[in-house]
Amino acid sequence: MSEIKQIGVVGSGQMGGGIAQVAAVAGFDVVVLDSNADQLIRCEKTHDKLLARAVEKGKMTDDDAKAAKARLTYVTDYNYISDSDIVIEAVVENADVKKEIFKKLAEMFTGDQILASNTSSISITEIAAATNCPERVIGMHFFYPVPVMKLVEVINGLATAPEVTERVIALAGRLGKTALPANDRAGFISNRVLMPMINEAFYAWMEGVAEPADIDGIMKLGCNHPMGPLELADFIGLDTCAHIMNVLADGLHSERYRPCPKLDQLVSAGRLGRKSGCGVFSYER
Ligand code: CAA
Repeated sequence: MSEIKQIGVVGSGQMGGGIAQVAAVAGFDVVVLDSNADQLIRCEKTHDKLLARAVEKGKMTDDDAKAAKARLTYVTDYNYISDSDIVIEAVVENADVKKEIFKKLAEMFTGDQILASNTSSISITEIAAATNCPERVIGMHFFYPVPVMKLVEVINGLATAPEVTERVIALAGRLGKTALPANDRAGFISNRVLMPMINEAFYAWMEGVAEPADIDGIMKLGCNHPMGPLELADFIGLDTCAHIMNVLADGLHSERYRPCPKLDQLVSAGRLGRKSGCGVFSYER
């Protein structure tokens, strides 16, 4: 079985960019692929900024930051990721888009390369079924911000081979993360537990139980959460939260998981959270 030396990352948004950065800092050669060249430029600028900040804070030497940067390559063509030993997909949370990408990856990678998805709630078994190698498909769910968060939730599909799981758990360790397993049910563990809490905070606000700042303050001071649920919803993206609630409702066959009307209303208004400058709270841009 080949040792993992090169990691391909498909998708250069917040999650893909974060995974690529962590992998390069950990010593892997990383090829970041995105069909959107402008997004790739933004991703590279973010890497430059975050690596420079790590040097300023004394967390890394300038030489190590330069070496990490030199291990990162940014490409728009799939041919350039063909030497990767594992590909981690982190594109938009859309099952059809992901299935199309995995079908293509399975045709390109015919050896023992691992095909991993960073999906936060879509079924790994369903994604794997779009390929002719479901035993090599697995979920590697990272958390935002990737350089800070310690967990990788590892999700086996129905056909994932045990040695693939073992290699992914070992890889997570080399990335400085702890891997914990979850089975392939909608939302896995993280979002099945986190998102209903966030949704409930919207209900509490909608019903006038408390104002947003107080709901968040109660959860921060009373439960030691680093961010209140509404601030966290803005941080994740309100559209993402609503989407995940719908995935839970469909996947767990229960309407109790549908997004709170208040959450849906803000999404309809284009108030998507930090990324749009306004969500539950307003942000300076
Ligand atoms: N990228 C890289 N590093 C970042 C960062 C980013 N986007 N944002 C913050 N950091 C780093 C800072 O540089 C700082 O590093 P040092 O300690 O080395 O100086 C550290 O994180 C702490 O940052 P701050 O001091 O600025 O702020 P903070 O103490 O308030 O922490 C936080 C910020 C780490 C984001 C903290 O508020 C937190 O943990 N919030 C909860 C985050 C969370 O729950 N994430 C999971 C979301 S759910 C998800 O991702 C899964 C899904 O499927 C939806």
